[in-house]
Amino acid sequence: MIASVAGNRMAVGLTGVGAYTPERVLTNADLEAMVDTSDDWIVTRTGIKERRIAAPEEAASDLALPAARQALEQAGAAPEELDLVIVATATPDMLFPATAAIVADALGAEQAAAYDLLAGCTGFVYALSQAYGQVATGLSQKALVVGTEVLSKITNWRDRSTCILFGDGAGAAVVQPIGDGGIAGFELGADGSGGPDLCVPAGGSRRPISPDALEEELQFIKMNGAEVFRFATRIMVTSAEELLSVCGATVDDVDLYVPHQANKRIVDHAVKNLGIDPQKVLMNIDRYGNTSSASIPICLREAQAEGRLEEGTRVLMSAVGAGLTWGSVYLTWTTSGVE
Ligand code: ACO
Repeated sequence: MIASVAGNRMAVGLTGVGAYTPERVLTNADLEAMVDTSDDWIVTRTGIKERRIAAPEEAASDLALPAARQALEQAGAAPEELDLVIVATATPDMLFPATAAIVADALGAEQAAAYDLLAGCTGFVYALSQAYGQVATGLSQKALVVGTEVLSKITNWRDRSTCILFGDGAGAAVVQPIGDGGIAGFELGADGSGGPDLCVPAGGSRRPISPDALEEELQFIKMNGAEVFRFATRIMVTSAEELLSVCGATVDDVDLYVPHQANKRIVDHAVKNLGIDPQKVLMNIDRYGNTSSASIPICLREAQAEGRLEEGTRVLMSAVGAGLTWGSVYLTWTTSGVE
C-alpha cells in the first residue's frame, strides 16, 4: 500500500507526543552475568549499551498511560475529547480485552472507540495510518495512537541471541486535523511468508499455552536473526525511497530521519544506502534497545525535547518488524490543531 495524500482536503498532523520508559536499567554488564555474552559483542553487533525493564507488576497499559497523558497535555486535549484510541502492541496486558480499551478507560476517554493493532515493530506506523484515515475522512476528530511494549516478559533470558536486543517502553501521539502540512504519505507492506523468522509460537489458538509448550519454551520470542537482518536492511531502504518518490520528495528534503531502533547496524545500512546525512538521523538504541512499536514515538519525544523537532521539520519514519511487516510515513511537523 502506497500513497501520497497531498490531494486530500483535510490536513492531519501529530499535535502532541509523549513517551515513558520504566525506571529499571539493565546494562550489558548485567547481561554478562546472566548469559555468555560481552559488552563488546553487544555494542559491536547492535549498538545497545542498556535497556529499560518493566517492574514485575507493570503491564503494557501501565507504560502507555504516562506516555498518553504527556501527549494529550502537549496537544492541549482532554481525554473526553478523544474519539479513537489505537494501541499498537505485541505484548498486550492480556489476549482480550484490548489494551486500548483499558487505556481509554484509565484515561477517562469515554467517547473513544478503542482497539489494538498487531504489526510488530511496525505497529506505530500502521496505527498512525489508521488514525490518519479515520481523521482525514471525518470519522474521528481526535485520535490517540500508542505504541507500548513489555518485551521483557516474552524474552527468554537464557537465550543470548535475543535477550540482548529488547527493552520496554511506550510512546504516544495525538492525531487530529491541522491547518496545513502534516502527513504527506504512507508506504506499508507485509510478507507473511517471513512470519516464522520472528514469532512467539505459543499462546495463541495454533499452540495454546500447555505444559509441553512451556517445556519447549515456546512462550518466548524466537528469531532467525540473520534472516530478519537481511530483510530489514533491504526493506528499510526500498520503503523509504518509494514513499519519498510518490510524495515528490528526495532524501535531501528530509530534515529528520526517525528509523525504528532495531539494531544500529540495520540503521547504519539504511542511512548509507539512502544517502541521508547521518546528522539527520535519530538514534537512541544505545539507551533503550529495541522497544518495538514504542521506539519511533520515544524517538519523536526525545527529538522534540532536544529541539530537533519543530514546526516545519520534515520527518521520515520507517520501521520493519514481525509479520514480517514494514512501513514508512513522511510528514511535515505541524502542531497547530484545528477544532
Ligand atoms: N553474545 C555473544 N555471542 C553471541 C551472542 C551474544 N549475545 N548472540 C549470538 N552470539 C554468537 C552466535 O552463537 C554465533 O556464534 P558461532 O559463530 O560460534 O555460531 C556468533 O555470535 C554470530 O552469530 P550471528 O547470529 O551470526 O550474529 P550476527 O552478526 O548475525 O548478529 C544479531 C546477531 C545481532 C541478532 C543480528 O542478526 C541482528 O541484529 N538481526 C536482526 C535482529 C532484529 O533487529 N530483530 C528485531 C527486528 S523486528 C522487531 O523488532 C520485532
